[in-house]
Amino acid sequence: MPMTTSVLIAPSLLSADLGSASLEIERVFRAGASWVHLDVMDGSFVENITLGAVALNSFEKPEGCVFDTHLMVVQPEKHIPSFAKSGADVISIHVEATEHLQYTLKLIRDHGAKACAALNPGTPLETLEWVYEDLDMVLLMSVNPGWGGQSFIPSVFSKIRSLRERLNERGLAIPIEVDGGVNPSTIGKAARAGATHFVAGNAVFNLKDEVRRSEKEKVEAYRSNIQKLVEEATRDQMI
Ligand code: DX5
Ligand code: ZN
Repeated sequence: MPMTTSVLIAPSLLSADLGSASLEIERVFRAGASWVHLDVMDGSFVENITLGAVALNSFEKPEGCVFDTHLMVVQPEKHIPSFAKSGADVISIHVEATEHLQYTLKLIRDHGAKACAALNPGTPLETLEWVYEDLDMVLLMSVNPGWGGQSFIPSVFSKIRSLRERLNERGLAIPIEVDGGVNPSTIGKAARAGATHFVAGNAVFNLKDEVRRSEKEKVEAYRSNIQKLVEEATRDQMI
């Protein structure tokens, strides 16, 4: 599974039609997204309850598709084996949700998945100080987790930059993923700060006149939304 790439868009299924999850996954995959972001909420770490490992296991995964699984749950260490068995390829756990950060990251790797630590906007980067070697990716939340469609919190731009510097100092080329409020107006600045992986819910799935669109038109609309994000993220690289 390629973890490093110049820009990667991971559409968040939270903004899609979850009643047709497998179909929506297939559509965005056909539209060019190799990663699909799955938001797992437990009603405790965050207010909402979304899906668990049983639901994930029922989703059809196209060949080559990566399930980027974002666990917004307390005590994530309890759930790593079941998510890994249910098709989660990348597993993000919140540093605020476990007292056993290093243990849980190692557990993820031991179960054959890529280990990622997620930080809420107010959580300092220092929480990562002693686990850098255990990380395959860092997820910086650019909204407070819980629901889609919120605005990007501006202080996170400097946080991305600061994390990229810390990773560079340690010679670590691991990806920084940003989640929340990513759209064509925010993605460029986040990319210039050093992020490469972008979760996008509303910016990919929110279609006008959705019901009137044919299957082919839906895929094309997702493709154009994804391309617009990639274009904005790489704009200054093309000059
Ligand atoms: C929020 C979730 C996000 C959310 C992003 O708690 O972790 O993945 O779906 O949605 P947008 O891109 O619409 O802000
Ligand atoms: Zn998420």
